[in-house]
Amino acid sequence: MKFYRTLHPRPVVIIGSGNIEEGEVNFMACSWITPIAEDVPAVGFACDKEHFTHTLIKKYKEFSVNITEDINLIWKVGTSSGKEVNKVSTFNIKIKRGKALSVPLIENTLASLECKVIREVEVGEVVFYIGEVKSWEASDFDEYGYKEFWRLPLHKGGKAFTFSSKKFYLPK
Ligand SMILES: Cc1cc2nc3c(=O)[nH]c(=O)nc-3n(C[C@H](O)[C@H](O)[C@H](O)COP(=O)(O)O)c2cc1C
Repeated sequence: MKFYRTLHPRPVVIIGSGNIEEGEVNFMACSWITPIAEDVPAVGFACDKEHFTHTLIKKYKEFSVNITEDINLIWKVGTSSGKEVNKVSTFNIKIKRGKALSVPLIENTLASLECKVIREVEVGEVVFYIGEVKSWEASDFDEYGYKEFWRLPLHKGGKAFTFSSKKFYLPK
């Protein structure tokens, strides 16, 4: 077993890159993503240097995080490259402009975050991009996150996904 499987299943998202005004738009699946800090609201994710996403983030220094329960779409954008296909037209992805940045967002998601790159850490084959969250929106949530938390997909590995089904509250 690979060491990183010890940290799966984990939330899987779709990273958006490019610039809507320039007509350059791409999306890829990502499960190596995490919140980083709150004082400077920040998230980070690992991006393989071979990916088209890496090329676009290097160019525009922005990325979006799109959270959707659509695991079919996640699989499609996670197994094709923007170097070869226009994923927006091929997979009929409905996109929209964010409130703060020019990076594309996917319409009708559970949540989306617009991030400006503030750090890049190169480790082996990846760049870990840390982005400051400039704007974000989420559907129906309370202080503990999504009310319908079971809609958040978790990636187990390969083609295996899971959705959580139980909620526990520790006593006060
Ligand atoms: C479920 C899933 C999770 C993935 N997680 C990551 C990840 O965390 N980091 C990464 O660099 N690639 C990840 N990938 C692979 C990229 O999404 C995939 O190589 C994609 O084709 C890159 O697209 P691009 O060349 O258009 O950027 C994942 C793929 C899948 C299917």
